[in-house]
Amino acid sequence: MPNNSRTVLVLHPLLAPEMAKLEMMFRVVRLYNEADPEKALQTIKNDVVAIVSNFATPVRRGLIEALPNLEIVAQYAVGYDNIDLEAAKERGIAVTNTPDVLTDDTADTAVSLLLALSRRICEADMFVRVGKWSSGSFPLGTTPKGKTVGIVGLGRIGRAIAKRLVAFDMRVVYHGRKQKAELAWPFYKDLEKMAAESDYLVLACSGGPETHHIINAKVLEALGPKGYLINIARGSVVDEDALVDALVHKRIAGAGLDVYAREPHVPDALKTMDNVVLLPHIASATLETRTIMGEIVLANLEAHFSGKALITRVV
Ligand code: GLV
Repeated sequence: MPNNSRTVLVLHPLLAPEMAKLEMMFRVVRLYNEADPEKALQTIKNDVVAIVSNFATPVRRGLIEALPNLEIVAQYAVGYDNIDLEAAKERGIAVTNTPDVLTDDTADTAVSLLLALSRRICEADMFVRVGKWSSGSFPLGTTPKGKTVGIVGLGRIGRAIAKRLVAFDMRVVYHGRKQKAELAWPFYKDLEKMAAESDYLVLACSGGPETHHIINAKVLEALGPKGYLINIARGSVVDEDALVDALVHKRIAGAGLDVYAREPHVPDALKTMDNVVLLPHIASATLETRTIMGEIVLANLEAHFSGKALITRVV
């Protein structure tokens, strides 16, 4: 059973109630609070048996190798491209994540971006706030109804987005590693072709080397001057320079972004554009979902140190 002589290195906090539970089970070191994280790590490196991480905290080979007694990395996110899985596997270190529970909130965020862009919601809000309404009417938006949405990555989150957009009378097509026989939506092996057919391109795939910069200048060119890009996947999926260039030169109509290449950095050029909606990586950020995600992190740690099967094992 867990006991607080075990040290957990926390790279990103859970919500306060789950942090309190974690502290009852383990000795907790919050690395993000340390004035000198390197020095703190040197002091505790032989004690650390578990890491709590999230998408913003790299768990690279160097860190894994610096912790000789590390047994488990419990990721507080569904994606785990921040973790060196090979290095973990080589040492027999378990890695867990928090799938499923964040699917609906993440899909809602994608739909929010799509609607905000189409109906110019953020611009319209600003129009009212700065008092422009009294001197004219707001320019027209564009309807998603009847338009084609190309979803890149039709996994759990991609499907939840598709289900929602069907309810908006949109036509769904998709691209991914392989066609899913159980789904009737048209599959495009060729991403550029799908982009050319799409009014909206929604990214819902995993990050990592396989999807690195698959959205490049050619795909954006194919999406075209009436097309919108929505990214709730990972910043690494998009060649961000090519995206900025496409927006500056109006080769696409706009973009809705929750994720970026070098978070929390957001290219300054994007911040000046009316046809871009920028979110600070909040797709799963609701109280309910983050609470359940934290509970899953705790349940995985508890299971591991009790010798039970992990709840949501990655490796
Ligand atoms: C968020 O980006 C996640 O992977 O959970």
